[in-house]
Amino acid sequence: EMKDNTVIVVFGASGDLAKKKILPALFGLFRQGYLPTDVQIVGYARTKMEKAEFHSRAVSYIKNPDKDAAISAYDDGSAFKALNDHLLSIEAKYTSKERNRMFYFALPPNVFVPVAKNIKEHCYAETGVNRIIVEKPLGRDLGSARELINSLMQYWSEEETYRIDHYLGKEMVKNILVLRFANVAMGTMWDKNSISNVQITFKEPFGTEGRGGYFDSFGIIRDVLQNHLLQVLSVLTMERPVSFSAEDIRDEKYPPITQEDTLLGQYVGADGKPGYLEDDTVPQGSVCPTFAATTLWIHNPRWEGVPFILKAGKALNEGKVEVRIQFKDVTQGIFKDITRNELIIRIQPSEAIYMKMNTKTPGLQTSAMATEMDLTYNRRFADAKIPEAYEALILDALQGDHSNFVRNDELDVAWKIFTPILHWIDGSRPKPLSYAYGSRGPAELNAFVERYGYHRSPSA
Ligand code: BG6
Repeated sequence: EMKDNTVIVVFGASGDLAKKKILPALFGLFRQGYLPTDVQIVGYARTKMEKAEFHSRAVSYIKNPDKDAAISAYDDGSAFKALNDHLLSIEAKYTSKERNRMFYFALPPNVFVPVAKNIKEHCYAETGVNRIIVEKPLGRDLGSARELINSLMQYWSEEETYRIDHYLGKEMVKNILVLRFANVAMGTMWDKNSISNVQITFKEPFGTEGRGGYFDSFGIIRDVLQNHLLQVLSVLTMERPVSFSAEDIRDEKYPPITQEDTLLGQYVGADGKPGYLEDDTVPQGSVCPTFAATTLWIHNPRWEGVPFILKAGKALNEGKVEVRIQFKDVTQGIFKDITRNELIIRIQPSEAIYMKMNTKTPGLQTSAMATEMDLTYNRRFADAKIPEAYEALILDALQGDHSNFVRNDELDVAWKIFTPILHWIDGSRPKPLSYAYGSRGPAELNAFVERYGYHRSPSA
């Protein structure tokens, strides 16, 4: 449940993540009445910033921290003592002794450990609940991730730690468990007997523009596949949890998974749009992939033999994230020109679930045609407000619900799957295939998905 007497400290308050996602999410929750009315939000940043500037970047109710706290470094204990004094002065007006503090790390990963240590040592509220929220990148491979997780856990317990993967906060990703476990019809066709192949696709219509420095040292596999798409895969394929509790859900999330056959791409300039290598923030001659497709196999009785194709790319022809489940062919014989059933879960934009179905062509002739059963949200739920992922997750964290956060063992499994291919890429530096900015990705992609059994429907 939600605690009164809560202070939220956003570290990295002047940065991009805070500005684009965290502060707007906090404001959205506040405006919709989800935060306690006396909640206090403190921005903490290394960049010196005047109050007016911070306010114009953020929103007027967010309090600026003391100036001296704002300018000091993240590894300076005295700055955290000053922050604690500031928090105590805010909390002085509470009528009860309870003081709850939530610390959001909107920070580069190299300061995670010093900040975790400093807030534990100097800003830990003795009477109340303390929580930290951290977010990727959490390591570069299995070894470094374990090291980081262990260092953080020296100071903060699993119970106090909320590891964000914001895809787990998206409405349609949260809907997958309901779709699967609240519908007997879905449940019975959700396995290798009915399903031929599954694609999980992430497409963005823009390149790394200005973010090339961060991106180039990670690449699309670490940026999107290893976390966001793998999380979608896990809720899509997990066994039914014993209950909807956080631990029961997370216990089921990862069966043994292996990875094979990766196609890498990098965009080149087209139609006046700059190629990846023309981005000033990208090192010359970089072979960093901005596109990747890879196939995962899940080794359990439900999924053995079903390929899961994960694809993600920047600078493509559209922005879209979807799951596409392609079912097997019906036994041929009585109908011609029918297509495979496909269930599409469109995560964004325009949330939708639809099923490609064959139906009798209306009229006197007897033939079959492809159509859809369509649940498009903005038609079916015209007035519903779909929450932002960060709103949903911050609210969960404030309520102490870990269901949609990444447990340390999940992170381990996720890195285990991708570490071999990442080490191979880092070591051999294969040259990625080129694709034009604004295209559908490398030309070789069609053959890739067909190799894993995907049939393009004749109508599409
Ligand atoms: C982030 C990645 O985690 O997710 C970005 O670092 C990506 O590269 C973003 O653009 C996509 O998030 P969303 O919510 O816009 O799909």
